Amino acid sequence: MSESLTAVVLAAGKGTRMKSGRAKVLHPLAGRTLIGHVLAIAGQLEPDKAVVVLAQDMDDVASEVKKADIETAIAVQDPPLGTGHALMAARNDLPSAGDILVLYGDTPLLTPGTLMQLLARRRDANAAVAVFGIRPPDPSGYGRLRFEGEALIELVEERHADEALKRDGLCNAGIMAIDASRMGVLLDSLELKQPKGEYYLTDIVEHASERGWSCVAVEGPWEEGHGVNAQHQLAEAEAVVQRRLRLAAMESGVIMTAPETVHLSADTKLAPGVEVQPHVVFGPKVQVAEGAIIKSFSHLEGADVGPAAVIGPYARLRPGSEIGQQARVGNFVETKNTVLEAGAKANHLTYLGDAHIGAKSNIGAGTITCNYDGFNKYQTEIGAGVFIGSNSALVAPLTVADGAMVGAGSTITSNVPADDLALARSRQTNLPEGAARFRAGRS
Ligand code: UD1
Ligand code: MG
Repeated sequence: MSESLTAVVLAAGKGTRMKSGRAKVLHPLAGRTLIGHVLAIAGQLEPDKAVVVLAQDMDDVASEVKKADIETAIAVQDPPLGTGHALMAARNDLPSAGDILVLYGDTPLLTPGTLMQLLARRRDANAAVAVFGIRPPDPSGYGRLRFEGEALIELVEERHADEALKRDGLCNAGIMAIDASRMGVLLDSLELKQPKGEYYLTDIVEHASERGWSCVAVEGPWEEGHGVNAQHQLAEAEAVVQRRLRLAAMESGVIMTAPETVHLSADTKLAPGVEVQPHVVFGPKVQVAEGAIIKSFSHLEGADVGPAAVIGPYARLRPGSEIGQQARVGNFVETKNTVLEAGAKANHLTYLGDAHIGAKSNIGAGTITCNYDGFNKYQTEIGAGVFIGSNSALVAPLTVADGAMVGAGSTITSNVPADDLALARSRQTNLPEGAARFRAGRS
């Protein structure tokens, strides 16, 4: 983009209608915060500058903002007195030429394509302001756009709108592109509005029109302007994002038989040809390589699944899980901070934590790595070609070297050298006819 672009994200509102005690923009959407989504969208436009407006007591939001990929200045609005006042608070960070794109921290479903259209429309028309308009199925709460002929002349807050405008008017999604060179004059024209005692950013349209500066609107898909003000709207936004993520995955060649039951995160990476069975949840930071199958009812987060590996059904991969090529993690197996090298198998009822399992080793049903003594975590090293018998407890720190075997039902507390067989269980005694005598004594 040749002209300069500054993105300003308004996020100083408390979001009291969320009733969760958490800052609104820190609520999660597909494993990422709302503000994280908005900054990711802004980042795709490659702005020269990004500014986030926060209230005084929002350190938690400020540290989330710093995690985003784009460099962002923070302007503090103290106390928050409306959307117009939020831009006044960012004034020192605003350029004197180019575009200012106003985004909301609680409006996370915009696409870069729509925003590019908005910016292009403002420039082509040499308009002071371009506003993004939507027609949501339930328009209540939105301001409305008022036109005179083709010209956008005013944004009317719902409480000030007449019935006809409320019924027929295009809704203001809140997103605007503003000519930076005229921004100062427009901000100076704002006055406190009653009954809320706020400076409305929306008033700049009327002030621009009065000066003979044109304003324009771009109508787009209502979903993109969907704002999150209450928990049910967060859930609605989640549904939209999930639908988009599933479609994108399938378009890239991921196989899903019941996509509506698969939950993805914004950063989930599934290679073409990966098969995802019904009812799988991908938490943040998961990648799955080509040919892998994720079977039903598995839950993955912070996991790297290698080519042609098979996960589940009912597997749980926790952060730090690295599953190698053609390795298998079966039902009711939990892994955390654990590497399974190529071809290793843990097929049933097992916990592997802080462990490294060598290639082609077999972990029997019911194996537990005892990695925690109540104070510290310890590592379990299992070599290549190892066989761990069922129902074994491996007490870490521990090494079971290449080719070793552990007999079923063992509690292993000492290292096992390569190719040794370790047995750590009491010897069996059979009492001849003992069962028969026991029964005789009872009858
Ligand atoms: C605003 C618009 C309305 C539009 C609607 C779309 C105004 C006056 N009204 O109303 O026309 O239809 O958004 O969702 O602009 N914020 C600050 N500082 C403040 C107040 C708000 O940073 O002092 C931020 C909020 O965190 C939020 C955004 O600005 O991200 C919008 O604020 P909100 O109070 O939700 O505005 P609405 O009443 O929804
Ligand atoms: Mg709002």
